[in-house]
Amino acid sequence: MRRSVGEASLRRQIDAVRASGLRDLEAARDVAALEAAWVLYLARKGQVARLFEQLPGAAAAERPALGKLLNELKVQLQSAHADAEARLRSGPAAAGARLDPTLPARPRWRARPHVISLVLDEMKSIFKGLGFSVALGPEVELEHYNFEALNFPPNHPARDLQDTFYVTDQVLLRTQTSPMQVRVMESQRPPVRVVVPGRVYRNEQLDASHAAEFHQLEGLYVDREVSMVDLKATVTYFVRQLFGERTVTRFKPHFFPFTEPSVDVDMSCFACQGAGCGICGRSGWIEIMGAGMVHPNVFAASGYDPEAYTGFAFGIGVDRVAMLRHGIHDIRLFLENDVRFLSQF
Ligand code: PHE
Repeated sequence: MRRSVGEASLRRQIDAVRASGLRDLEAARDVAALEAAWVLYLARKGQVARLFEQLPGAAAAERPALGKLLNELKVQLQSAHADAEARLRSGPAAAGARLDPTLPARPRWRARPHVISLVLDEMKSIFKGLGFSVALGPEVELEHYNFEALNFPPNHPARDLQDTFYVTDQVLLRTQTSPMQVRVMESQRPPVRVVVPGRVYRNEQLDASHAAEFHQLEGLYVDREVSMVDLKATVTYFVRQLFGERTVTRFKPHFFPFTEPSVDVDMSCFACQGAGCGICGRSGWIEIMGAGMVHPNVFAASGYDPEAYTGFAFGIGVDRVAMLRHGIHDIRLFLENDVRFLSQF
């Protein structure tokens, strides 16, 4: 026979469990505390279940009312539990619970210069050591500076080799850094010792060795009695600094409208020392720049007296040098912004 339970006593216990249950559930700050509160109040052997166990001992007349109270208590605590669970899942404590401090840290994003900039810096610093300063010019250039002042007559076939993108008849994307020869001479008196790094454009059929935009480093040296010897000595010093002391240069006659005489400069292959290998196309030589003595017409177009001054100029393909130095086989990689490629330098 069950011990009879006084109605007042059971109501008091219900109130007490409600008060402490709500307090504990709301106070739970982490999953473990919430779980403990659930075990204490709502589990199969929890306090709510124990109160239900007392129900049969209550007076028959009171049982329906007490049963209703107990059900309400259970629903109330269950919904408080659900609220607490939702709160923990979305709150900052949830983030803390999901944080795994043993995971490796994400590497920091670190910016770095483009490989073309690195090679250009190296080239500029060699010329700075020889007393050259650095000048920059516009990429959107006047036809006058890109061709006319450089002694390309209108309709001369030399222009065909440098087809480009025209903004208007008179304005184009420069095909070379040579227009800066004229701009520099217009803006200062001799002597001139300047290098001009920059981007140039040509209307090219794109492939692994041709891009529609690439980079050059122009050089200009003007003074009284500058000779071809100065050109050869300067260029040879430069390639030896860049590719090693044993590098040998070779000057082949060439044509540029704005230099006379003009040369193509080859250097002995840095990989095989001239024996012939895959890098130099088995010839032992690598073509490295165009150069020559400044044409009198260019001096005249720039306001320099061709009788008083002589000078040499050269133009180096920066992308090509970067490809040679780093064993890069496709010029298009420089432009594609692929971090896997860029982060190697
Ligand atoms: N501007 C020439 C080119 O792009 C290179 C060059 C520069 C040749 C200066 C001679 C002197 O092909």
